[in-house]
Amino acid sequence: MKQDNRQNIENNLSHGLNVQSLISPLDSEPPLFAPKIRLGILASGNGSNLEYIFKSIQNKQLNAEIAILIVNNPNCLAIKKALKYKIPYVIINHRDCNSRLEHDILVMEKLEELSVELVVMAGWMRIVGEEIINRFKNRLINIHPSLLPSFKGIDAIQQAIDKRVTITGCTVHYVQKEVDSGSIIIQAAVPIKEQDSKETLKNRIQNMEHIILPLAIAKVAKCIRTSFKDNM
Ligand code: GRF
Repeated sequence: MKQDNRQNIENNLSHGLNVQSLISPLDSEPPLFAPKIRLGILASGNGSNLEYIFKSIQNKQLNAEIAILIVNNPNCLAIKKALKYKIPYVIINHRDCNSRLEHDILVMEKLEELSVELVVMAGWMRIVGEEIINRFKNRLINIHPSLLPSFKGIDAIQQAIDKRVTITGCTVHYVQKEVDSGSIIIQAAVPIKEQDSKETLKNRIQNMEHIILPLAIAKVAKCIRTSFKDNM
């Protein structure tokens, strides 16, 4: 792993805990690949993960370009991030569609039109259908705010609090039909403190998301550039 990347990770950790114990797997070598991978980002929310993907590209930790940001919610803050960083974006509002399938097809057509190679669901608050999943097999990933397979589905952070677990975290995984169930790519653990509110816990989980999502993208991109090349 590049020195500045590791420094970046360590700067994001509180209490000086050993990063190896919090993120797994964390390879000693950076997942290097070329040429750069074309990303399609799907977002419905604040776009903080989008922002960190963009920053990882900017500071050359991730060999990628964002071909398109697709949002389904015309009021989401991810659009503001796209404007700030001049990321191309399109609004495909599910409310303008007659069915889930119609929306999925519009999303898929846009991704294909722009030759997107890897699709990243970064706070995409929609279930994607089989058409997209099959079209982007091994090239569609999601980030979820829990240590899967615990706390699948909505409000994972509240689920963890309600169960009184003492460690939760976040997971990047491949997307398959069953929600939050695909193979795990990388996870980060986040201890829950007694004094935590949902907000403070969410902030710490998101700090880790911002680290592991670019790493996961690099890992999958490397696979795309090697083992899956023949299937594309
Ligand atoms: C993240 O916490 C992610 O785990 C969940 O949605 C949130 C998106 O946050 N799926 P942001 O829009 O990237 O800030």
